[in-house]
Amino acid sequence: MELYIDTANLDEIKRASDMGVLDGVTTNPSLIAREGIDYAKRLEEICEVVNGPVSAEVIATEFDAMVKEGRERAKIASNIVVKLPTTADGIRACKTLSDEGTRCNMTLCFQAMQAWLAAKAGAFLISPFIGRLDDISTDGMDLIHQIRTIYDNYGFTTKLLAASIRHPKHMLDCALAGADVATVPLSVIDQLLKHPLTDIGLQKFLQDYSAAFGG
Ligand code: G3P
Repeated sequence: MELYIDTANLDEIKRASDMGVLDGVTTNPSLIAREGIDYAKRLEEICEVVNGPVSAEVIATEFDAMVKEGRERAKIASNIVVKLPTTADGIRACKTLSDEGTRCNMTLCFQAMQAWLAAKAGAFLISPFIGRLDDISTDGMDLIHQIRTIYDNYGFTTKLLAASIRHPKHMLDCALAGADVATVPLSVIDQLLKHPLTDIGLQKFLQDYSAAFGG
């Protein structure tokens, strides 16, 4: 499973990138608003740090404007992936941009047949939102399993990118379900390495060593 970071914060991206295990970045209008910076400028900065796919969402919601904005975003760097909402206009824009050779990430996917249409339109990535489905008392992981099955049944090559991941258990379940990519905030990446027995064990190793050899 590939690891993307879900943020528009450059320091967080650099920290995750320095670990040497980061495969890409996803951004969205809310994340950019939090940074209070021009979207195109921040995308340029991100693409200087990360070579892997960097998802850049369009703000437009109508087909013509989406395609225009998507083409502009794609010019920023060769690793930009244009992110579009999984609406009728978004699917149409995905088909147009994908046919031109621009990779698209279809976002705000909440049911499996949206993912099926995205794959038919040539999407590079599909982004089902787990946490937001959990938030409304449904099981977001069901959607991951359904999309995996549908994509495998028909040999679709669209990558299943699990999004709206809130904790390490979501990550574990995604890996077991065969998600191709998980995009997570830095706080979740940090949590992946936290275990009390790791900390206790390390402390004991160092104490034992110091007791025997000093220092
Ligand atoms: O970037 C899309 C998605 O990961 C958002 O997550 O936590 O805002 O539902 P969240």
